[in-house]
Amino acid sequence: MCGIVGVLGLGPVQNLIVEALKRLEYRGYDSAGIACLENGKLSRRRASGKLRNLEERLAKEPLAGSTGIGHTRWATHGKATENNAHPHATDKIAVVHNGIIENFRELREELRAKGRHFASQTDSEVIAHLVTQSLDEGLSPIEAVAASLPRLKGAFAFAMIFAGEDNLLIGASQGAPLAVGFGEDDRAGEMFLGSDALALAPFTQQVAYLEDGDMVVLTHDSASFRDASGLPVERRRIRTQASAFLIDKGNHRHFMAKEIHEQPEVVGRTLGHYLDMSSGHVALPFELPVDPATLSRLTICGCGTAYFSALMAKYWFERFARLPVDVEIASEFRYRDPPLDPSGLTIVVSQSGETADTLAALRCAKGKGQKILAIVNVASSTMSREADVVAPTLAGPEIGVASTKAFTCQLAVFAALALAFGRARGVLGAKEEARLIGELMAVPGLMAQALKCESAIEGLAREIGKVRDVLYLGRGAAYPLALEGALKLKEISYIHAEGYAAGELKHGPIALIDGDMPVIVIAPKDAVLEKTISNMQEVAARGGRLILIGDENLARDFAGEAEASIIMPEFPADFAGMVYAIPIQLIAYHTAVVMGKDADQPRNLAKSVTVE
Ligand code: F6R
Repeated sequence: MCGIVGVLGLGPVQNLIVEALKRLEYRGYDSAGIACLENGKLSRRRASGKLRNLEERLAKEPLAGSTGIGHTRWATHGKATENNAHPHATDKIAVVHNGIIENFRELREELRAKGRHFASQTDSEVIAHLVTQSLDEGLSPIEAVAASLPRLKGAFAFAMIFAGEDNLLIGASQGAPLAVGFGEDDRAGEMFLGSDALALAPFTQQVAYLEDGDMVVLTHDSASFRDASGLPVERRRIRTQASAFLIDKGNHRHFMAKEIHEQPEVVGRTLGHYLDMSSGHVALPFELPVDPATLSRLTICGCGTAYFSALMAKYWFERFARLPVDVEIASEFRYRDPPLDPSGLTIVVSQSGETADTLAALRCAKGKGQKILAIVNVASSTMSREADVVAPTLAGPEIGVASTKAFTCQLAVFAALALAFGRARGVLGAKEEARLIGELMAVPGLMAQALKCESAIEGLAREIGKVRDVLYLGRGAAYPLALEGALKLKEISYIHAEGYAAGELKHGPIALIDGDMPVIVIAPKDAVLEKTISNMQEVAARGGRLILIGDENLARDFAGEAEASIIMPEFPADFAGMVYAIPIQLIAYHTAVVMGKDADQPRNLAKSVTVE
């Protein structure tokens, strides 16, 4: 994980690097650091904790150099201390690194035996010493990096500067993204490296991505790429759409709150991209890479919240398209070596488009001959580039670490795809399709109504903030939402929560029911509501603290038993997941806020998980 940036500037680069790091904080925020060349010498400033700590440090002790690198860290090896913060340096080089050097122990022992002294517990520091060792043996900086690369195992990207070399910045990438930015207009002659195009967007829109195994040597007037075998290669320059503007929170206290409230708009926008509202048909804006009519099975891979969106999609594909679906946790998928039909389809789903496990699942499925459809939010991401077809979620940048609007937009894309597949497979007639599209088109308005439950949820959050454990229950397509509700609560409030299929209650978790633990039941008016009601009765009969998310009728029926009811609008429940996601997200958000937690940047997490 981690975000890296490098700048060969024409003036002081400290502020440019900080600006880029702000845009990379989603990749980790445990600690941050900068190194610059000042009169040919390497100077560093590092700080543990959020980027603002580094900014405070730099305000007191600024760096003046015009060649520099920066890093924002998500700790993998070694605690999030200043000492372990990047850049790691020797007297000759400084390096910022994203990823994991898997063979760092062997390399460290080898380098120690040669008399090198290590100052941190990180895997990254071996890169600095390995390259320095080669420099000491008489190699040039370019030769030293080229000689070191084949010795590094794992997935990584790094940027490196060299003492006495003002006009040199070297980058390398193996299984982790790295983009070169080319300064234009008043920045002509400046060169950049960054983990993504978004980080570089304030400076340039002209970028080229390194491919797997590439190394790049930047000077003010050149960018020379070499491939994994060391041969010179060209990498295509493209113009990105990444916005130079840093998104703000508007009138909201946190990005997460803003993003929850944006959902009616962005889900509407996403649906509009896939549906022809006037004719009542799905109108996919791309050609599918396989014929859904001949598919015998669909595989969907994702992680975390994206995985839960896929779990919900399974209900829709099976019901509307009668298509068997395997939903896979991406980190498990490839190691099982799953048998896949070479003419089949795998869908990967990811907000960032960079999640290492999902990317590996994409490559695994592709390697087995499957066509890949990627549902992604970041258009310039690696998954977008590697998939056969990209189905964008038009959620806009999601800054809060806990996914909210990306989740519901993923659901919107899945719903449209499930209907398109249903039509293509002859399961849905035109009339049924039009009815379901009518329901989908109503979703953004229903989400806006659901947002009105916020003040009731603020009261509830004060109670939830006092407990240690919470159970979420749901049936049918509300079951993945129970899992998502539990994930959302634990990741930002640190309260232990579990999601269960309501029917599973009696097979174990019912033993937990007591007068302390809230049981949040997600109960839209769907085909399995009666069954869910039975499970609610089971909770009530054991004196459990029942919290109900359902419509007014249900709330009235349970007025005696439920401790609290969050009232949702009444509507046909085929796509209820998108609407019921709102109270789920608000419960987590307000609980975190009443507990004084940082809802946008919860501890130990990062927005984009680019390590295995
Ligand atoms: C939870 C959350 C994570 C992500 C997961 C996958 O709120 O955000 O569970 O959903 O890390 O990330 P993407 O979607 O970027 O692949």
